[in-house]
Formats: sequence, structure tokens, C-alpha cells
Amino acid sequence: MTLQMDGSLLPSASVTHQRFARDVFAGLGAPQKTLSPKWLYDRAGSLLFDSICELPEYYVTRAELSIVQRRRREIAAAWGARVRMVEPGAGSGTKTRLFLGELGALRCSSYVPMDIAREHLAQTTSRMRAELPWLRIVPVCADFTAELPLPPSDEDSCNVIYFPGSTIGNLDPPDAEHLLLRFGVAAGPRGVVVLGVDMKKEPATIHAAYNDASGVTAAFNKNVLVRMNRELEGDIDVDAFDHYAFYEPTIGRIEMHLVSRKRQTISVAGRKFSFVEGESIRTECSYKYDLVTVERLAHKAGLSLVNAWLDEQRRVAVVELRPV
Ligand code: AVJ
Repeated sequence: MTLQMDGSLLPSASVTHQRFARDVFAGLGAPQKTLSPKWLYDRAGSLLFDSICELPEYYVTRAELSIVQRRRREIAAAWGARVRMVEPGAGSGTKTRLFLGELGALRCSSYVPMDIAREHLAQTTSRMRAELPWLRIVPVCADFTAELPLPPSDEDSCNVIYFPGSTIGNLDPPDAEHLLLRFGVAAGPRGVVVLGVDMKKEPATIHAAYNDASGVTAAFNKNVLVRMNRELEGDIDVDAFDHYAFYEPTIGRIEMHLVSRKRQTISVAGRKFSFVEGESIRTECSYKYDLVTVERLAHKAGLSLVNAWLDEQRRVAVVELRPV
């Protein structure tokens, strides 16, 4: 981690490269091959994810955006008189911008977007600076699952850790609990944790959201193979893998896989990994919640669920958690 001139924090590119290689070796070496979904988000992957958010089938972003558009005043009313907005996994920060506009210069002391995708973070930062010139922005390039390096904050503002977009769904429940605990600690006793969660619903709706007709989700999934080829000197034939995503209602979880179309051996960063026909790499799990489960999870993390806002069709919730 290096502290930049403008106060932002960036890990060196070589550190990210090493972590990627290490994760690929561990993940592809396991009996069920897995890759962490965080590696889906290089520059191309972040742009593909932005396209997913526009898909007719992908309701998650629009539903949460409609909650924020309609209820932002009410949601933000409960936060402190002066607020520092911290957004782990900020991406394009579209929903956050609405909150920042709502808070205005008087209530918002600064905005700390945090993202693992360095270029995307830089772009979001410069776009936000143009759109909200009064706002102090301190970008932090970091993997929030590993660390939450928050810049020092002024005494009178309280932290709002805003974690929208159902990103929490990417973590297995024990990891989600641990992350919420860390968010609670980072927020501090006067702070708030605000989450966007995707709710359990009819499986067909969820299935369609991860199996869009135009194939953008498939391209997003396969992009991790493209990235391995580029960054880790891989020799992977991307077309020899199929996108496969399915919802398991008993767990309330969608899984995304890359399934090998044939028996094959790939080489990545000088190591070989073999696949039998039909063998998969699991690239993402996305858990769907209900309010009782959110409450239980929050409680285990030392937080209490104090408020929840749902869209009209109850597809997505924005929840407010506070340290108990
Ligand atoms: C960014 C983790 C919320 O799980 O819905 C979208 C990522 N994966 N389509 C999700 C994703 C496939 C997304 N999250």
C-alpha cells in the first residue's frame, strides 16, 4: 500500500499481480476449481458489469436505484449531522451520487470510494469530481475483503459505510458475517452500515438475471479467462468454456461457473491445470436474502437491523444497520 500525494491509497500493480497468480494457483488446484469473483473486475470486467446493470433481465441495480431515488431523503435523515461516505467496491458509484447530492456540502465531509479496479476507481473519481465539484473525494484502491484502509477522518463526522448493489451476496455467510463485523468496527460507535441486498424470490426471475439473452453475463464470466491469458501468460481457449449459472432455492444462492466443453489442459503463469469434459470452475456465488436472515447475520456481527426499505415488488432491500 502506498500513500499518494492526494492522500489516496494504492497497492502496487505487482502486488495485485502476485495475489492474482496465488489465487489462481490455489483455486484451480482445488478439487472443485474456484476463482474468487473479485478477479472478474479488471477494467474490461468492470465495464461488462456496468453493461449487466443495464440489461432488461438484471433487475438488481434498477430496483435498488428506485429505492434510493424515492427514499434517499428518508434514508439519509437518520445519519449524523456530518457524514463521511465510505463505499467499499464503489464501481461507478451511481447510487452513492444520489446520496451525496442529498447530503450536500454542508453535511458531507468527504467521500471515500474504495475499489480493487484501479483504473475504474480513477475514472469514477474524476467523473464525480466533475459532477460534484464541492465534494472532497479520497479514493482508496484496495481489496476490501482483505483490508479497509480508511484515511484519517475529522472528529465531528460519522462514517456511513455504504455497501450497495448486493455485493454482500458474493460472500459465504461466515465471510459475510466477518465483513459486516469489520464494517461495524470501521463505522465506529456513531456510524451506520447501509447495505443493498437482493431478496429471495421466484427462481425464474433470478435465473434470467444471470442468463441474459444477449450474453453479456457470459462475456463477464469468461473475461476472467481473458484476464488470465493477458496478465498471467495463459494459453486458455476461451471458447472451450461455457457460461453456466443456476439458482439453488434451498440455499438461496445463485452459482456462476465456467464449464469445460472438453477434456483439456490449460497453462497459466507457467503451471498446468487439467479438466475433464464438463468440469467446472466456480467463479461466483451470489446469495439472496430475506429480512430475517439479514437480521440474524447482522446480530452475529454485532449490528442491529434498524430500518429496511424495499422496492414495490420487494425484489431488493436497502437496510440500515447500527452497532448494538
Ligand atoms: C455485483 C455481486 C452484486 O451477484 O448479482 C452480476 C455480480 N454476477 N451478474 C451479482 C454479477 C453476474 C453481482 N454483484
